[in-house]
Amino acid sequence: MIMLCIGHRGAMGHEPENTLLSVRKALELGVDAVEIDVYNVEDRLVVIHDRDISRTTNGHGYIEEATFAYLRTLDAGKGEQIPTLKEVLDTINRQAIVNIELKGNNTARLTVKLILEYVRIGWSYQDFVVSSFNHYELNLVKAIQPNIKIGILIYGLPWGYIEIAKKLAADLVISGLDYVSSELVTAAHQENLQAWVYTVNYPKDIKKMRQLGVDGIFTNYPDLIDE
Ligand code: G3P
Ligand code: CA
Repeated sequence: MIMLCIGHRGAMGHEPENTLLSVRKALELGVDAVEIDVYNVEDRLVVIHDRDISRTTNGHGYIEEATFAYLRTLDAGKGEQIPTLKEVLDTINRQAIVNIELKGNNTARLTVKLILEYVRIGWSYQDFVVSSFNHYELNLVKAIQPNIKIGILIYGLPWGYIEIAKKLAADLVISGLDYVSSELVTAAHQENLQAWVYTVNYPKDIKKMRQLGVDGIFTNYPDLIDE
């Protein structure tokens, strides 16, 4: 069985996370999918992980309180700008699946709008997976366009996560490494849900995920997975 390799925030073990440099590195390492995180800033989707921009850039403050113009002046590592989602999509250019994690509020509508624009110019719905810990935003994605695949991100082992996935008509369950088990994988597969696991950075864990029959793993080091 094939286990997908998903580059986490691009290939953040090698290049500054969520930058185009990181996305290009992930592609160079032959990932099946690239995962990035998005927020809504003045109705534009920008790619960054934290609410507080100070960890990954030379700026200060909260991402959703910043202007887009200010964010674009910042260094997100090695002189890279904080990219827009559109720039990430153009960089990936259908060389891998794009996993868009909705981190911020009010990201679902803009994300669907952008996906539809790319589908209109020849991309496929299969080129995208939208995921989130915010299941309200995810619900909105599916409600607007049921062809878009969604993955419910879970933290820990929430009671009734399979029922939530079914209720949302989700396509994937995305669990943390510490909580994945053969029961979780079996329960997901019984409901035709793929099971993806974050974040798997050690060979012994990669081996374990294969044994469990996990469908995809997020890793900071896509070069660790050679099959
Ligand atoms: O989507 C998997 C993983 O990226 C979720 O955790 O904190 O890295 O966004 P985080
Ligand atoms: Ca993420």
